[in-house]
Amino acid sequence: MAEIRIDSRENLLKALRATGAYLPAICGGRGSCGKCAVRVISGSVPVSDSDRARFSPAELEDGWRLACAAFPVSEIVVEIPESGERQFSAVSGFAETKTEINANAAQWGEEFVLKKNPASFARQVTGAAGGGETKRELALAELNEVSKLAHAQGEIYKSAAQTDNFYIYRDRGKIIHIGGKTDPLYGVAVDIGTTTLGFALVELRTGKIAARCSSVNRQREMGGDVISRIQSANNGNLLALSGIARAQIDEGIAALCAEAGTRSRDIYKLAITGNTTMLHLLLNLSCHTLGQAPFTPVTLDMVFARYGEIFSGDLSCEVAILPGISTYVGADITAGLFFTGLREHKAPAVLVDIGTNGEMALAYNGKILCTATAAGPAFEGGNILWGTGSVPGAISGVRFHNGAFETRTIGDKPPAGICGTGVIDTVYEGLRAGLILPSGRFTKTEPPNELFLAKNQDGRDIVFCQKDIRELQLAKSAIRSGLDALLNHAGLGYNDIHTLYIAGGFGFNLNMESAAGVGLIPAPLVPKTNLAGNCALGGAVKYLLNGRVSAYDETLREIVECAEEFNLPDDKYFNEHFIDNINFDNWE
Ligand code: FES
Repeated sequence: MAEIRIDSRENLLKALRATGAYLPAICGGRGSCGKCAVRVISGSVPVSDSDRARFSPAELEDGWRLACAAFPVSEIVVEIPESGERQFSAVSGFAETKTEINANAAQWGEEFVLKKNPASFARQVTGAAGGGETKRELALAELNEVSKLAHAQGEIYKSAAQTDNFYIYRDRGKIIHIGGKTDPLYGVAVDIGTTTLGFALVELRTGKIAARCSSVNRQREMGGDVISRIQSANNGNLLALSGIARAQIDEGIAALCAEAGTRSRDIYKLAITGNTTMLHLLLNLSCHTLGQAPFTPVTLDMVFARYGEIFSGDLSCEVAILPGISTYVGADITAGLFFTGLREHKAPAVLVDIGTNGEMALAYNGKILCTATAAGPAFEGGNILWGTGSVPGAISGVRFHNGAFETRTIGDKPPAGICGTGVIDTVYEGLRAGLILPSGRFTKTEPPNELFLAKNQDGRDIVFCQKDIRELQLAKSAIRSGLDALLNHAGLGYNDIHTLYIAGGFGFNLNMESAAGVGLIPAPLVPKTNLAGNCALGGAVKYLLNGRVSAYDETLREIVECAEEFNLPDDKYFNEHFIDNINFDNWE
């Protein structure tokens, strides 16, 4: 809990932000999401209409206000509840054991013995494989590594010691390190999701994951979904959004190093994936054409840069930004396809990344058909009264037992809110208990029209309301109708599908009975479902293990080139089934 003193007559949200405080104001300050709730401990802040709609009389009495609708009329002391969204937590993961990822670790080091009197160190290093000397111009970053070698040699000359064997480590043909056989060599993979950033620190020689973490995307304070981020960027906040992403990646790398006990200077490579909008924001690229037809991005290609060209941290490695397929089927799906090897499946297989933007791809007959559907942020806790990201304390599992809801939280921490899997469980359990009708309405018509789940640390009731059910209905129908339309477009049925990969932040924790019960996943596909976690992060990790050559660059390009996108909003089948799939008619 942070306590900040302010003396201001402006909107409290703006004033708090100016102090560096973080509030996940995902509705952009319109008073509808409730995520900017603060408690006024002393001083006077008049109750607004938005406050009355959001808080009970007892909560108003206790000082609860929405910061975006609060205009202090005196000096106040305000308490900001800890949302957990600033923390880095170890809940990000992907199905390492279900893939060949560890077997893909490439040979990195190439041994060579330094000659007694080379014409120059650079010439001997470039000719190392053949044992001779060749003339090839080195990039400055490579030359810096050679310079370190020369420095070490200088010490050896002074002491007249025996010259050692050295190892040259290359990435995509370029020298990234010259040193001993067992020098630590790490890479960092990053997936920038609209709601969550996932990080993994990888030992490049072995492919072992040395540390991983995730944190809620702090750009949420400028909008919960891709469209609102684009609008925010186009309203003059592009640089601020870019700065948030860059700072958060710097912090994520520091968190990984702290967890693994490694030095940041041992990181030699960074691979970043994410949806097209997130990557545009990271690179400070104009988003003006992303939000309007014909939705043309600045780029979808791979981007290579030095760390210092983008970030302010102390790394000096190369950064690779993975390629996307289209404006709404981004590099996160490319990475997911790469990770799951979907194209290599002999029978048709589907990858569905359930998030704010539900991206999906079907591999069949050597082709990849992909599309995206606007699911909204409900699966990531957005637009849900007590919704939150997958942070410690988020209610991730719910059961109705003996007339009451029992909850399970991430990290067994005190309940702080409800994340996506908790939302799905709550509705399914509500249907099973007869508290929710197949239409999505509460069975009981008298107030309070909400389901009590748990109390939070401040003693406030965490409840699930009618609007939350509606949000889930729209989100699950968008995903389900998109999946059905994708299969219909290819002329395939559920029985033709061999494997359904479910990716996304909540992949591992998804209760399949609940997912099928609310109609998110077709029941015939449940036995064929592989909960793969964050496949985008897994793809970035796999890319890091490229080794000396650049074969994976080519693989990614091939995936992008053979992917064909089809547009759901124009699809008659999708539009007809979207309405049909809103209710919970087949919940049993
Ligand atoms: S309710 Fe205040 S930012 Fe959404």
